Amino acid sequence: MPSQTFLTFFFFLLLSFNTITSDFVRPIDRKLFDLHKKEKLSHFKFYWHDILSGKNPSSITVVPPPLKLNTTTAFGSVRMIDNPLTLGPELSSKLVGKSQGFYASACQDQIGLLMAMNLAFIEGKYNGSSITILGRNSVYDKVREMPVIGGSGLFRFARGYAQATTYSFDLKSGDAVVEYNVYVFHY
Ligand SMILES: *[C@@H]1O[C@H](CO)[C@@H](O)[C@H](O)[C@H]1NC(C)=O
Ligand SMILES: *[C@@H]1O[C@H](CO)[C@@H](O)[C@H](O)[C@H]1NC(C)=O
Repeated sequence: MPSQTFLTFFFFLLLSFNTITSDFVRPIDRKLFDLHKKEKLSHFKFYWHDILSGKNPSSITVVPPPLKLNTTTAFGSVRMIDNPLTLGPELSSKLVGKSQGFYASACQDQIGLLMAMNLAFIEGKYNGSSITILGRNSVYDKVREMPVIGGSGLFRFARGYAQATTYSFDLKSGDAVVEYNVYVFHY
């Protein structure tokens, strides 16, 4: 009888080892990754500069709009960006990071963009950390909302959303300054 109990125990031990841990996946202690602390909700505010004009544009067309299609919406075009992020609306105000990625014209009957960008911060303890945004931007709407789909460094496991409001837009040059308010859960 005792040997039978032992065998049953041994069998269950073997079974649980097999299900809980393997070479492929294993549970880990949150403390090891500093994730046992309470999640914070932060609000970041800055200005995003889309500079098309001048000798050093931060926003360049990599896929021009197909000529035959709607010239107003520029459907199909893609611009690559390395846009400065500043604390105030003036480009000369404090640089807090860069917005790196691209936006593409993804709407046929209005100016609607697909935004895919990493907000790479350099400010204070956030230097080296980034927030990733992927979303829809109907540029003529007063407020556009885009999801925060993740991040790196201090923004590991981040989630949230960004709200963009146009601060200024120069019709002639295409240069734009957009206010960004990003609400993000992070550790
Ligand atoms: C082109 O875009 C304009 C501006 O949104 C729109 O009014 C028009 O209907 C579009 N034309 C076509 C052919 O889709
Ligand atoms: C950010 O970090 C990099 C790399 O560690 C460093 O070279 C740079 O000076 C830092 N920038 C600021 C503004 O602190």
